[in-house]
Amino acid sequence: MTKIVLINGSPRKNRACNFLLEQAIEGIKSVSENIIIEKIQISDYQITPCNGCDQCLRPPNNCPLAENDDTEKLEKVVLDCDALIIAAPNYFGSVSSQIKTFIDRSRPWKMKNYLLRDKILAPMAATGLRNGGEGVIGDLINFGLIHGMIIVGNTFGSPVLEGNIAITSVQKHSLKEFLGKGEIDELAGLIAKDTGKRVAELVNKLKK
Ligand SMILES: Cc1cc2nc3c(=O)[nH]c(=O)nc-3n(C[C@H](O)[C@H](O)[C@H](O)COP(=O)(O)O)c2cc1C
Repeated sequence: MTKIVLINGSPRKNRACNFLLEQAIEGIKSVSENIIIEKIQISDYQITPCNGCDQCLRPPNNCPLAENDDTEKLEKVVLDCDALIIAAPNYFGSVSSQIKTFIDRSRPWKMKNYLLRDKILAPMAATGLRNGGEGVIGDLINFGLIHGMIIVGNTFGSPVLEGNIAITSVQKHSLKEFLGKGEIDELAGLIAKDTGKRVAELVNKLKK
């Protein structure tokens, strides 16, 4: 059975990261209704920050902190999937501390001979003023590359040929109005949907 896990990396459960993931879920479903989809909130898991003890470097490569937090529960969800889609908020150009802690604590999975190897990873960033989102994507790409995962982006149209150029809410409504709006970023939604679709298509191809 094919399974795609989506991780909301924001401590806010129903905001921009969630919007992106819900769009991605629509994209997945457009490919197949038979793919198992599990969306989790990273902030629902208690993950103790890595203390650098390096015990994961030595067999049996376990983390002593896992005895007292939720990482084993998280491990069951993450290792049992074909693809991961992670949406992280942009906090000062990096991922949220919840996602950074998750990334650091994933080290045993690498040390146990690359348990995430060949799983697909699609990174997504939610960003307020759109300054520093590249850093978030960079953090997530590095996580995937270091684990031997397959990084996937979107193929949503061409900004030149099809005019898919993002217009910020400030440009559209002026600052005063923008501050009062809970506006949906339509283009981001379409890109997220396409990303979900592409992840589902690639998972199916890889499983053939
Ligand atoms: C601590 C903190 C730092 C942030 N830093 C940035 C930033 O550097 N650039 C930016 O564009 N947005 C920044 N934001 C805004 C968030 O990226 C934005 O609110 C995003 O929508 C959060 O995702 P969420 O809606 O899923 O929680 C920051 C927000 C917080 C709480």
